[in-house]
Amino acid sequence: MAVVSMMTTKGGAGKTTGTLILGTVLAEQGASVCLIDADPNQPLMKWAKDANIPPSMTIIGDVTEENIIETIEEQSAKNSFVIVDLEGSANLSTGYAITSSDLILIPLQPSKLDADEAAKTLKFIVRQGRSSGKEMPASSGRAYPRPM
Ligand SMILES: Nc1ncnc2c1ncn2[C@@H]1O[C@H](COP(=O)(O)OP(=O)(O)OP(=O)(O)O)[C@@H](O)[C@H]1O
Ligand SMILES: [Mg+2]
Repeated sequence: MAVVSMMTTKGGAGKTTGTLILGTVLAEQGASVCLIDADPNQPLMKWAKDANIPPSMTIIGDVTEENIIETIEEQSAKNSFVIVDLEGSANLSTGYAITSSDLILIPLQPSKLDADEAAKTLKFIVRQGRSSGKEMPASSGRAYPRPM
């Protein structure tokens, strides 16, 4: 039902980690969760090979610009939550995913580079919204708690 996409053009900001943490917490509380691995490097599929996956979680890989919209639609009809782990680029595939999302999270670590890329990403998301006539539900924040 709810589709959440993780997006930022900065590598290592926390898209994949955020997807796994959010997905695992929701699945452990009994929600049906589908993680969509939309990164060509397939980090979630690699993680899934050795992971102890909660029973209510499924993970789908091999998603491209040609099938990402259909995959999100199909999975959101079957699951309470769909979380899309995007690659660190602004391209057709990420554009399709974010316009199909109820919430777009932009993770960032405390560095100027991460903040610059988060701002660039937010502008891309707003442009996507303009071109599709949709108000985009995007939010940005730290991926990790401040160290004690
Ligand atoms: N297996 C791992 N072991 C240790 N640190 C890791 C591991 N995977 C990721 N990290 C670290 O966690 C942080 C967040 O990485 P993550 O892969 O979640 O970012 P990302 O935004 O998905 O990056 P990318 O754009 O490359 O997909 C980075 O500092 C990364 O180096
Ligand atoms: Mg990643």
